[in-house]
Amino acid sequence: MEIVIFSGAGISAESGIATFRDSGGLWEQYKIEEVATPEAFQRNPKLVLDFYNHRRKNIKNALPNNAHKQIPLLDSIGHVTVITQNIDDLHERAGSKNVLHLHGCITQAKGCNGDKFIEEIGFKDIEVGDTAKDGSQLRPHIVWFGEAVPAMNDAIEIVKKADIMITVGSSLNVYPAASLVFETPRKCQHFVIDPNVQELNLPENFTLIQENASMGMKNLVQHLTSGNKKPR
Ligand code: APR
Repeated sequence: MEIVIFSGAGISAESGIATFRDSGGLWEQYKIEEVATPEAFQRNPKLVLDFYNHRRKNIKNALPNNAHKQIPLLDSIGHVTVITQNIDDLHERAGSKNVLHLHGCITQAKGCNGDKFIEEIGFKDIEVGDTAKDGSQLRPHIVWFGEAVPAMNDAIEIVKKADIMITVGSSLNVYPAASLVFETPRKCQHFVIDPNVQELNLPENFTLIQENASMGMKNLVQHLTSGNKKPR
C-alpha cells in the first residue's frame, strides 16, 4: 500500500515554528516581496539572508512533535512517502525515511546560478560574501516565489500511486504544490487534518479531521494501523 503524507507549516506549528497565513503568521510580519523572491535577494541580500538565518536558528532549536513522530508508525502498514512544503528537517529528525522537500531545505545552500552546487550547511548562518563552489553568492536552497519547483514532477508521480493521502497543516494556497491534491487516483482515500480550514479547495470524497496535527495524526494512525476504515 502506498501512503503519501502531504505536509505544510501547520504540522510544525506545535514545535514552535510559525505558519505563514494564520493570524500572527510569518506573512503578517514580513512582506513576501521583501524576503522571499529572487528580486528581493538581488535588491537586499542581507535582509533576505538575515530572515532565513533567523528561521534556521528557530528550526535548530525546535523538536519534532507527536504529529511528525506518528508518521513512521505507518511503515507497518505500507510504503510511506512524505512530500513536504516545509523547509525544516523535523520529518527526518522524527524518523521518516522518504522525504521530498518541495520548497527546499533550510540546512542546504546553493549558488545563485541554479541548482548545480547544492551544499549541506547544517545550521550555520549564510552571510553576504559567502560563496558557492562556482564563486557566486551563497543563498538558501529554498524555492522562492516566482521560481520553479523542480521536485514537482517527482511529487506528481508519487501522488498518482497513492492508496492513502494524508494532507496535514496546509492552507493549500500555494501553487503548484497545492495542485498535488488533484493528482490522486480514484481509489485513493484522502484525509485532511487541519483545525481551522476555511474553505477547502479539494476534490470530493475526502475526510476532514478538524484537529491539531498531533491529535489528528494520533487518532488517524491508530485507526489505520488497527485496520479500521474510518478515523474517529
Ligand atoms: N495543526 C495542524 N494544522 C495547523 C495547526 C496545527 N497545530 N496550526 C495551524 N494549522 C493550519 C492552518 O489552519 C493552515 O491551514 O496550517 C495551515 C498553514 O497554512 P500556511 O501558513 O499557508 O502554510 P502552508 O500551506 O505550508 O504554506 C505553503 O507558502 O509561503 C509559502 O513557501 C511557503 O511552503 C510554504 C507555502
